[in-house]
Amino acid sequence: MAEAVSSSMNIKSLQLETLRVVQPNRDAVASNNVVGFDSRDKRSRPFSLMRTQLAKRLVEEKIRLVGVTSASPAAGKSFLAVNLAASLSRVLKVPTFLVDLDLRRGCVAEELGIEFEAGVSDYLLGEMESLHEVGLHIDGTKLAVFPTHTVSMDSAEAIASGRFDTLVETMRKHTGEAVVIFDLPPVFANDDAVLSTRALDGYIMVVDSGRTSRRQLADAMEMLNPVPCLGTVLNRYAGGMLDSYGYGSANYDSYYSE
Ligand SMILES: Nc1ncnc2c1ncn2[C@@H]1O[C@H](COP(=O)(O)OP(=O)(O)OP(=O)(O)O)[C@@H](O)[C@H]1O
Ligand SMILES: [Mg+2]
Repeated sequence: MAEAVSSSMNIKSLQLETLRVVQPNRDAVASNNVVGFDSRDKRSRPFSLMRTQLAKRLVEEKIRLVGVTSASPAAGKSFLAVNLAASLSRVLKVPTFLVDLDLRRGCVAEELGIEFEAGVSDYLLGEMESLHEVGLHIDGTKLAVFPTHTVSMDSAEAIASGRFDTLVETMRKHTGEAVVIFDLPPVFANDDAVLSTRALDGYIMVVDSGRTSRRQLADAMEMLNPVPCLGTVLNRYAGGMLDSYGYGSANYDSYYSE
């Protein structure tokens, strides 16, 4: 207990302004369809709609730490997490942080074409003292990303470690009210998503149209119970948008499923 208190007191406030400023690579941003930064790009519209719905709940329910996951791999979690975080960062008064917590296949830095040295993985493995060395402030925005390298060890061990608790505590208490989006691995891949989601305020479930069965979806949500599901997003759906929680629009999938 005494140790936990002192570790909490030692955590320096993790403000956007204190993080290293980086430029995303334009070509990477374009080729990976990262459109959430640009309100004039019509492809950013579905993310703006999701953002508006989510922002309302964030404020009303004081939700700040949100995971993005799916039942099985390659559903479009990272694609959604990056675009949604970019879109949120355009309108929220507080900063948006995007944390890559897919320790086996992290790709947030790649999506934005950002070079980095220290990653979330290094922090969790105890090789970095502070998250200040990991966080990168995207130039000209209110967005910071915390990229990760891939780890060869049992990533669930890293998530189960005290360092993960400190990471979450830092994000919750020392980021000046920032909204934090966590890009997670799929629920069925390993224990990471279930373990890490427990520490968050809620999650968004990405459903890959035609590939995720109802049964898989129900089982995945059951595994994340009782953490609140803030919304489900049906991705790559040719006929429109499943909109059980008000996210997205018909444009979203028809555009991106091309
Ligand atoms: N709606 C979409 N339109 C176009 N491309 C998409 C769409 N959704 C995902 N993609 C692309 O599909 C690929 C897989 O998506 P992404 O990496 O976001 O999935 P993931 O769920 O994060 O996968 P993993 O389980 O490996 O973490 C990426 O190249 C991404 O850019
Ligand atoms: Mg991913």
